[in-house]
Amino acid sequence: MTILPSKFGSYGGRYVPETLMPALEQLEAEFTRARDDRAFQQKLNGLLVDYAGRPTPITYASRLSERLGGARIYLKREDLAHTGAHKINNALGQALLAQRMGKRRIIAETGAGQHGVASATACALLGLECAVYMGEVDMARQAPNVFRMRLLGAEVRPVSSGSRTLKDAINEAIRDWVTNVETTHYLLGSALGPHPYPTMVREFQKVIGREARTQMLAKTGRTPDAAVACVGGGSNAIGLFSGFLDDPDVALIGVEAGGEGIAGGKHASRFSDPERSRLGVLHGTHTFVLQTPDGQIAETHSVSAGLDYAAVGPEHAHLRDLGRAEYTVATDAEALAAFSLLSTLEGIIPALESAHAVAEAVRRAPKMKPDQILLICLSGRGDKDLDTVTPLLASPPSLKPSPVSLANGEGKSGGTGRRKSERK
Ligand SMILES: Cc1ncc(COP(=O)(O)O)c(C=O)c1O
Repeated sequence: MTILPSKFGSYGGRYVPETLMPALEQLEAEFTRARDDRAFQQKLNGLLVDYAGRPTPITYASRLSERLGGARIYLKREDLAHTGAHKINNALGQALLAQRMGKRRIIAETGAGQHGVASATACALLGLECAVYMGEVDMARQAPNVFRMRLLGAEVRPVSSGSRTLKDAINEAIRDWVTNVETTHYLLGSALGPHPYPTMVREFQKVIGREARTQMLAKTGRTPDAAVACVGGGSNAIGLFSGFLDDPDVALIGVEAGGEGIAGGKHASRFSDPERSRLGVLHGTHTFVLQTPDGQIAETHSVSAGLDYAAVGPEHAHLRDLGRAEYTVATDAEALAAFSLLSTLEGIIPALESAHAVAEAVRRAPKMKPDQILLICLSGRGDKDLDTVTPLLASPPSLKPSPVSLANGEGKSGGTGRRKSERK
């Protein structure tokens, strides 16, 4: 028996070894108590305001709106949160919970490094020991964040197994947790994993949607017509979507990594590949998982380390079944073009992950009316991506939105995204 619902429709659940069950039960019980504890909520809110810099603002992207024609575009500026991404909201919440449970050691996994930096930051603040697992490929492409984590006092543990990206880092983190579960809290970074993580991470990220709704009403007198966010595991998206779930007129759009195109399989779109998108269990949760024909976890590819993961958060699978949210893809080339466009037109360098959401806006806004509003969750800032982007943008890609229909598997590679083997 669980205290909170453990599934979203038929997705989610808790598929873990026996040794982890007591820790998950303890976590669920403590999270439920903390949720109803005014002192805990005040402490967390105090840190979000005085330490993390919340509320993050909403910026009207006037030059981008003008260039694209159509809808007015607004940006929810999670890039301005302390440490440069939405990940800090969840890291502070879970680190406080670990403290409540008397666990003084934190482990985390990270792809883009932003969750690792957020975890290391929360641990430094609260005086907790911190070890972060990171795939070697991701360590190479997100080197500035590796340096930041070490500076913050965390131990970064390189992972050399498998594709040496996020999936493999999570494998290692779970192995560590099984061994040290008495003393250690696993600070999972997205709305993924066994129950209660998808629910708990959503609750800690709800602050994005709550603020965005209030701010949009104050700024424009209404809710947006569409709210767009990139989807790795799905935490920034579920945080934003939560604010508008009860507003049926707000279209919710999640954007997955289309990589080099759906047809060739070099992507991380769990929903739109007719050959590889299948139901399965990865890291304790039942959801859409990219798989090979014999059921192995398929290799993924994205220019952005934070979207390069084979499974999607279970609540997104459910929202898609309900028809409440729609999921699209942006290729590496489209994300890079959007990265340039936002930088040059608005003076805001987005994280490559967030650039996928901007790419969807580039496609969608021109088809909308001038009295309509499109809100983008700018999940993080792009400083960490400069090493990746600089060589790729040596010959700038076309800034014209691509008409290709990737969702139908007809996408073609823009050719600007390098393969993993070339990145080393
Ligand atoms: C800036 C940024 N945005 C988005 C993501 C994707 O994660 P999620 O889907 O959980 O928001 C990451 C993950 O590392 C990230 O660093």
